[in-house]
Amino acid sequence: MQIYSPAEDSEFLSEIVLEYLKNPEINKNISKVLDVGTGTGFQAEQCIKAGIKKTNILCADINPDAINFVKKKGFNAVESDLFSDIKGKFDLIIFNPPYLPENQFDKEKDTTGGKEGDETILEFVKNLRFHLSENGIAFILTSSLTPEKRFLSEVKKHDLNFKKIASKNIFFETLFVWKITN
Ligand SMILES: C[S@@+](CC[C@H](N)C(=O)[O-])C[C@H]1O[C@@H](n2cnc3c(N)ncnc32)[C@H](O)[C@@H]1O
Repeated sequence: MQIYSPAEDSEFLSEIVLEYLKNPEINKNISKVLDVGTGTGFQAEQCIKAGIKKTNILCADINPDAINFVKKKGFNAVESDLFSDIKGKFDLIIFNPPYLPENQFDKEKDTTGGKEGDETILEFVKNLRFHLSENGIAFILTSSLTPEKRFLSEVKKHDLNFKKIASKNIFFETLFVWKITN
């Protein structure tokens, strides 16, 4: 299976996460990190730049080739459909999800998040609180091409706090980064 090459969405999400990690008050509380949908391990590698220890990061992906790839880079990694094979809680969870609606040309798992585009994100939110530590922070990226209504009602349903903290216009869409906490 092909592994997603880091693109503008990857860079944008990591820029915002790194800004947060620069804050010593936030950084000092982060020991365990989960990079969901790790791909090449881009988000995990960016965390190391912010001083997070490699051994404290767990990379997860549904794509076994991505898992082999990041293991070769020395990351702890687990093949998992979202949280299905993840145990424990994390202080920082990062997810650059597949967020595009499927169409006749594209049904790939690295880019499309289901028929409407938000299905993978909804599943992620459903189980997020079981894996977010008390003061944990999750960062997730969405796009103007991702339906937002169901995502927001799912977050509310689970009593999570959420905020759109950044947006960026790129070629044919606007990217958004959301911060979600308990
Ligand atoms: C847009 S790519 C992001 C890759 C990388 N994190 C980055 O920022 O460049 C989405 C990733 O999510 C993975 N993915 C898709 N569905 C998933 C699922 N249900 N559980 C875990 N990973 C999934 C894909 O295999 C892909 O690696």
